[in-house]
Amino acid sequence: MRILVTGGAGYIGSHACLRLLQDGHFVVAIDNLDRGHQTPMDMLGSVYPDSFRFVHSDLGNTKIVLDTINIHSLDTVLHFGALAYVGESVEQPLMYYKNNIASGIGLLDACDQAHNGAGISRFIFSSSCATFGDPSDDMIPVPEHCPQTPTSPYGSTKLQMEQILIDYAKKRELDNNPIALTILRYFNVAGADTSGLLGEDHSPETHLIPVAINAALGRRTSMTIFGTDYPTPDGTNIRDYVHVDDLIDAHVLAMNTISVGQCEAFNIGIGKGYSVREVLEAVRRVSGVDFPIQDAPRRAGDAVALFCDSHKVRTVLGWEPRYTDIDAIVSTAYSWMLSHPDGYAE
Ligand code: UFG
Repeated sequence: MRILVTGGAGYIGSHACLRLLQDGHFVVAIDNLDRGHQTPMDMLGSVYPDSFRFVHSDLGNTKIVLDTINIHSLDTVLHFGALAYVGESVEQPLMYYKNNIASGIGLLDACDQAHNGAGISRFIFSSSCATFGDPSDDMIPVPEHCPQTPTSPYGSTKLQMEQILIDYAKKRELDNNPIALTILRYFNVAGADTSGLLGEDHSPETHLIPVAINAALGRRTSMTIFGTDYPTPDGTNIRDYVHVDDLIDAHVLAMNTISVGQCEAFNIGIGKGYSVREVLEAVRRVSGVDFPIQDAPRRAGDAVALFCDSHKVRTVLGWEPRYTDIDAIVSTAYSWMLSHPDGYAE
C-alpha cells in the first residue's frame, strides 16, 4: 500500500512508519514537528531511501496535504497527528480543538479531494480511551459500547473526530465511493521498538513509565504517585499498558481486514490492569534500582481504573499482543532510555 502517516515524527507514528516500511509499504510521514522529532525521520530516510519520504507541514495546510497524497499516489491514511496531554488540554482547550479538530478537518478535506475527487480509500484513526471518561464499575473492563463521556478537552477532541469521520464515511457511502474506516481507541501505550532505533521522547515527559525510568536512572531525584486513596486494592490508579509494537500490529491487521464500506471501532489494550504501584515495582525490578517514590494528592482528571475489554479486536482482527507482562513492556522502554540519555538529543 501507499500510506500517509500523520504525526509520523511522534512516538507512536514513528513506530508505525518503521513497521510499515519493514512490511514493504511506501510511506510518507507528515508532521509539523511541534512535538515530533526530525531525527527518527532522518534515520528512516537513510535506512529506506526508496520507500520513505518526510513532509514537514501542519495537517491544517490542506494544499500541502493534498499535493502530498496526489504526488505520491497515496491510498491509505493512518492519522496519529494530535496533541495528547490530558492536563494541557484542560489548560489550553482552544489549542486542542484547533489542532485536533480544525487541522483534522483540513486533513479530511485533502483526503476527500485527492485523486481528482476519488478520495482516499482507507483511513485509520488514533482515538483514545479518554473518550470514555471515567467509566462506571459495570463498564470495567471497558467494551466498545461503553458510553463515551469524555472528562477532558483532549478526550472530547478524539470523540468529535470519531463522529466527524463516521459522518464522512456515510457521505462516501451515499456517493457510491465507500471508504474503509477503522477507529482504534488506545489505552496506555508504552515501550519501545526492540531494534533500538526508536523510542519515547516527550518534552515534558509526564507518562508514568518513562518518568519512573528517569528516576531509576538518576535523571530525576524522585517521582510522585498521584493519589494513594483510590478505591483500588493498593489505593493507586489502574491502567492497561499496551506495547507500542502490539498497538501497531492492530493497525496493520485493520489495514488488511477492514474492507471498503466497513466502519469499525476497536478498543486496544491487553485487557489487564496494573496499578501505579505495580508499574513502579516493575521499573524497580527491571532497573535493579530502589529509587525514591513520594505519595502526593490525586491528579485532576485521572480516572480510577481503565482497562480494556479486548474481546472484539482479538476476534474480529485476530490481534494477539506479544507483550502481556508489565516487566517485558518496561524492559523495552528501559533499554532505549538507557542507551539514549538525552532522547533523540535534538
Ligand atoms: N502517574 C503518577 N505519577 C506520574 C505520572 C503518572 O502517579 O509521575 C499516574 C497517573 O496518575 C495515572 C497513571 O500513572 O494514574 C498513568 O498516567 P499517565 O500520565 O502515564 O497516563 P494517563 O493514563 O494519564 O494517560 C493516558 C494517555 C493519554 C490518554 C489517557 C486516557 O497517555 O493520551 O491515558 O486516560 F488520553
